Amino acid sequence: MTAPTTAPRVAIIVVAAGSGTRLGEPVPKAFVDLDGRSILSRSLDPIFGLADPVQVVVVAPSSHLQQARDIVGQSAGAASDACGVVVGGDSRQSSVASGLAALLPSIEIVLVHDAARALAPGSLFERVVAEVESAGRGVIPGLAVSDTIKRVDASATVLETVDRAQLSAVQTPQAFPRAELVAAYAAADREFTDDAALIQHAGGSVAIVAGDPLAFKITTPWDLRRAQQLLAETSSASRPSASALTVRTGVGVDAHALDADQPLWLAGLFWPGEAGLAGHSDGDAVAHALCDALLSAAGLGDIGGIFGVDDPRLHGAHADVFVLETVRLLAVAGFAPSNVSVQLVGNRPRFAPRKKEAEEFLSALVGCPVSVSATTTDSLGFTGRGEGVAAIATALIASATQPAAGSVT
Ligand code: CTP
Ligand code: MG
Repeated sequence: MTAPTTAPRVAIIVVAAGSGTRLGEPVPKAFVDLDGRSILSRSLDPIFGLADPVQVVVVAPSSHLQQARDIVGQSAGAASDACGVVVGGDSRQSSVASGLAALLPSIEIVLVHDAARALAPGSLFERVVAEVESAGRGVIPGLAVSDTIKRVDASATVLETVDRAQLSAVQTPQAFPRAELVAAYAAADREFTDDAALIQHAGGSVAIVAGDPLAFKITTPWDLRRAQQLLAETSSASRPSASALTVRTGVGVDAHALDADQPLWLAGLFWPGEAGLAGHSDGDAVAHALCDALLSAAGLGDIGGIFGVDDPRLHGAHADVFVLETVRLLAVAGFAPSNVSVQLVGNRPRFAPRKKEAEEFLSALVGCPVSVSATTTDSLGFTGRGEGVAAIATALIASATQPAAGSVT
């Protein structure tokens, strides 16, 4: 993590390192799908919608570090300099401690937030930050308890009714002055269920501000279903039409010089007896333009930014390496390719005889129809002079939650 140009004063530690035992899914809770995107990805939405820049520290399980980095990178976009992912611990408390160790020197206020509260709105983050600024002490969101609460003994006998006016069901994000939280963590001699309890144990005082019902914690399968239902209601109410926001196009261009000493790999196929293309990988301009079109459609940058030319694993790599990783990144971002069209520009090879073979191969790799056409340029330009080949691609992608590409109107 590098310090962004304007050093932020506020950091948000998003704890996502739990296993989600009570949810009972095969992957850790933060990586469980919630309406087309992971719980972690959803929990970052309000944070990147805040008006003022913050440092974001995501605490992830060691088994899912790369997935967490992908999700954070996608959510952060241009703000990725201010974000980092660290490995969590066995308890929530030790996970928060890992996050605290990654704070930038400029941080004065720290928010600790459960990724599992994926629908907590941005207004809740703003409220706790404003309150901690003015009160100069810890601030946590809480909701009045509406059920009647009984104190019971070990044999399930009701002892008394607790005065619920004195109770508050607390949530996250919980906000604290940095120095106070760091000192309380350093002094902690046992586990607490939230950060406010730890601060109080260290002698600090904490205030309650109004919580938000949407900041409920996804703990059980019922909670997950409820969150899905709430998201479906919100999106159908706010979207003018499903197609307006969920279908995107992208464009990609690539060119490689001929290198007669190399074998030719183009459109994922080996072309015996043809002069090859220069490049760190196999120089497959068709596959590279295709990947660029998909990445640009998803707003994920381009092939040069994702596959470094210095990476020795990519030396001589063929289309499958680039295409499969591109499709995986799209899936992480919640998109699925609908179709890709590529045009090869060059004198050789004569493409028509193997057009069907190339299309079938690339369609299977991408997981959607890929069409490939070819043209020459009437002897004009570097392709016309036979110095190299170029390829131009367009891609259509849809949100993975789209019912079906064919149903888009
Ligand atoms: N958490 C964490 N590290 C842990 C345990 C929990 O970062 N060792 C995080 C979870 O990822 C979650 C938040 O703390 O975002 C609240 O914890 P909880 O809802 O209890 O999540 P889990 O511990 O994953 O779930 P369970 O208790 O059902 O196993
Ligand atoms: Mg837990």
